[in-house]
Amino acid sequence: MSKRDLLNFDDWSRGEIEAILALAQDLKSKQKRSVPHRLLDGKGLGMLFEKPSLRTRVTFEAGMVQLGGHAVFLSPTEVQMGVRETPEDCARSLSRWVDMIVVRTFAQATLEEMARSASVPVINALTDLYHPCQVLADCLTLLEHKGKLAGLKVAFVGDGNNMVHSWMEAAGKIPFSFSLACPKGYEPNRDIEARVRKNGARVTVTHSLAEALRGADVIYTDVWTSMGQEWDVATRLKAFQDYQVNDRAVSMAKKDAVVMHCLPAHRGQEITDAVLESPRCVAFDQAENRLHAQKAVMVWLLDARPSSKVQKFKRSRKTTSQSKGSRGSNKRR
Ligand code: CP
Ligand code: NVA
Repeated sequence: MSKRDLLNFDDWSRGEIEAILALAQDLKSKQKRSVPHRLLDGKGLGMLFEKPSLRTRVTFEAGMVQLGGHAVFLSPTEVQMGVRETPEDCARSLSRWVDMIVVRTFAQATLEEMARSASVPVINALTDLYHPCQVLADCLTLLEHKGKLAGLKVAFVGDGNNMVHSWMEAAGKIPFSFSLACPKGYEPNRDIEARVRKNGARVTVTHSLAEALRGADVIYTDVWTSMGQEWDVATRLKAFQDYQVNDRAVSMAKKDAVVMHCLPAHRGQEITDAVLESPRCVAFDQAENRLHAQKAVMVWLLDARPSSKVQKFKRSRKTTSQSKGSRGSNKRR
């Protein structure tokens, strides 16, 4: 079977996403109870980052070590991808040394080129277009706070950016509804929106905060200026001034709505200090869950789930007893 990547959610099924979330819950519970779970013993992870990071870097690195493996962080100044060598050649070389590659870069096309050239799984650690690892951690957080995903209304206030695209894709897999309130000119990518709608996603894009937030179980926001857009900060500060998550915005949603933010937060811009510090805000639970969700993704991609180990053991015993006659199949799952 060919290797699997996590580049976005497009080729992931609802069943797979739910299985990863269940695995994340299992790994989180094991870690909290100090139950060893060295499912990736001796495995290596290459981490190539072309943009800054706190959460993503630390959670992949710490997660890999907790799983019994090791991680090698590669900074942009060191690798100089596209200057010293092509992304394809980076991916081909890394594939000879490590078992998985995590990439944070600008263009989704760069990530996709790397995934095509790599012989090991490649994980999207954020591009200009998507941030799937964050949305997996967010879904895990919602399961903890709301007990379910299906039937929820997630309202996003802000820019139609990488976070929005991953949320819209997730809404095409799991039946929750997603509403974005954004200023004119900051709508999400039209092709992605059209594709997710075709997949059955219930998505609303509006310029009205009240419309997006009416009946919402979740109020989500993100920075107005994403990494790589710093040149545009003055224009964006003006364009987004009515799209702040403050007490007024919170009052437009359901009474028990939770507030989410992928962090880093720019207090006083997209969210007020008071809302970020309020008991309904679960931003630091989301940050914690990056660890557990990404551990699950890594275990899944390397087919090292506890049950699949049992399966493999059973299969290999069968194969050994059969091998006197013919060779057994080598199916991964
Ligand atoms: N949310 C998130 O991806 O944080 P970092 O940019 O710090 O990794
Ligand atoms: N939209 C933000 C997300 C940061 C986690 C960015 O791309 O900078």
